[in-house]
Amino acid sequence: MLTRVPRSFHPAAFSPAVGKGFISQAGGIGGKQESGRTSVLSRRTLSTSSLARPKALTSPGQKRSVSALAQFGQKHVTKGLGRLTEAVFTKGEGCYVELDDGRRMLDFTSGIGVTNLGHCHPKVSKAAADQCMNLIHGQCSIAFHEPYLRLIEKLIPLMPDPSLDSFFFWNSGSEAIEGAIKMARWYTGRQNIITMQGGYHGRTFGAMAVTRSKTIYSEGCHPLMPGVFPVAFPYWHQHAVPPGTSEEELSKLSLYQLELVLSQQTNPKDVAAILIEPIIGEGGYVPAPTEYLKGLREVCDKHGILLIIDEVQSGFLRTGKFFAVEYTGVRPDIMVIAKGLANGFPLSGIVSRKEITDKLSPGSMGGTYAGNAVACAAGVAVADVMREENVQENVVARSKELFASLAELQKDPEVGPAILDVRGKGLMVAVEFASPTGHSHDPFVDPSAPANLAKRIAKRCQDKGLFILTTSVYEVIRFIPPLNISKEDLAKGTKIFAEAVKEVVQER
Ligand SMILES: Cc1ncc(COP(=O)(O)O)c(C=O)c1O
Repeated sequence: MLTRVPRSFHPAAFSPAVGKGFISQAGGIGGKQESGRTSVLSRRTLSTSSLARPKALTSPGQKRSVSALAQFGQKHVTKGLGRLTEAVFTKGEGCYVELDDGRRMLDFTSGIGVTNLGHCHPKVSKAAADQCMNLIHGQCSIAFHEPYLRLIEKLIPLMPDPSLDSFFFWNSGSEAIEGAIKMARWYTGRQNIITMQGGYHGRTFGAMAVTRSKTIYSEGCHPLMPGVFPVAFPYWHQHAVPPGTSEEELSKLSLYQLELVLSQQTNPKDVAAILIEPIIGEGGYVPAPTEYLKGLREVCDKHGILLIIDEVQSGFLRTGKFFAVEYTGVRPDIMVIAKGLANGFPLSGIVSRKEITDKLSPGSMGGTYAGNAVACAAGVAVADVMREENVQENVVARSKELFASLAELQKDPEVGPAILDVRGKGLMVAVEFASPTGHSHDPFVDPSAPANLAKRIAKRCQDKGLFILTTSVYEVIRFIPPLNISKEDLAKGTKIFAEAVKEVVQER
């Protein structure tokens, strides 16, 4: 059996089907209803055929037709969403996803760093299913619920600093970022936030204002939330220095830029928080050097500013440690978590120390679905599986293999010159290519290098059966495979990647 998609949602259920306008009066897509009545859609779909899913086409690079269900999506899902493919997911299992066009793809995106234990990990799915039969919505402003408290119990020993002992769970990373900003403003009585050039923290209004990775996220929406001051991140591009520049030098340059902002743009007395990802994700998978984070901690301590660490993408063993900030020994005042926390169930969290959160007025934090019981139960199972299945050891072993395979590629005389940088930690790894990027003052891209390498290579990987993502305004491909990926699947993915790089670079 390839799929467990409920029959009423499965493309096959639409066969034979109509071509257009097959939404029911009630707006639903579906077949037979619970009551035994048949929806408008299913009545109509029973008599026509164009919504049938296309025949499986699996040969690499072959042009695929878009299924009728996907065409429906193209018509009715907002154009504001971008997608890697126009196919429809039908199943996820471990490191693989299946699509309605018959493809079974190796998934090196992990749903953008979320399904860290692979799709539908049986223990996580079971914990969620069991919770569904007990309590789904234990509203957090009405009473505690057990999975919420059990999850805190699991997370406390994993915190990068023992001071982080007060939790609030929400749904998305963006919400948690906004909550962290609100908390910092309230606690310090100050308004301004310093954020990183290249940082990504989400797309809701407050999160969008502190996001500085690409203009697309706020295009046409200005003015944004005021009081946000971006500073240069220690990434060689941002200082127009060569890729090999030492972390020490990059840290010095960035801390100097911060000093300038604090003396020319916002007085430190007006700054509530400095917000930073320990590895900027959408900004290109660049780890913040230890010297830099230590420097930020000193600035914060000197001026009574809170340090907010965004571990949404880098947390939960993604980098080989539970939290990436652990590599630096720096203590966050507030830490934001999400993504891998519940392996696909919507759950985020703001963690801080009680002394800070005790200042909040009851009712100032909350949310209808905040800390959903099913998501929290999944989170408890994630913490258990990470320990029981030695996920950390796997990350360390697979990371070495991944870096070794990329180093091989860099040594290849045909493609090596097209690779500017390989970086990252654990299984949060990036390859940056030398394609020209349109930044005419950037001296470190090669105008003679093949154009759009990252995008073209990601597309070629997809043709060969691998989903992999690009990131940043530069030509970067990011590796975020599941953390429990096997040696064989990792090798399969890196082989596809190497072939794609060689083919695309040679095409120019
Ligand atoms: C570092 C970081 N912070 C915040 C967010 C926003 O999270 P969400 O998409 O759940 O709102 C993301 C999402 O990719 C992220 O990578």
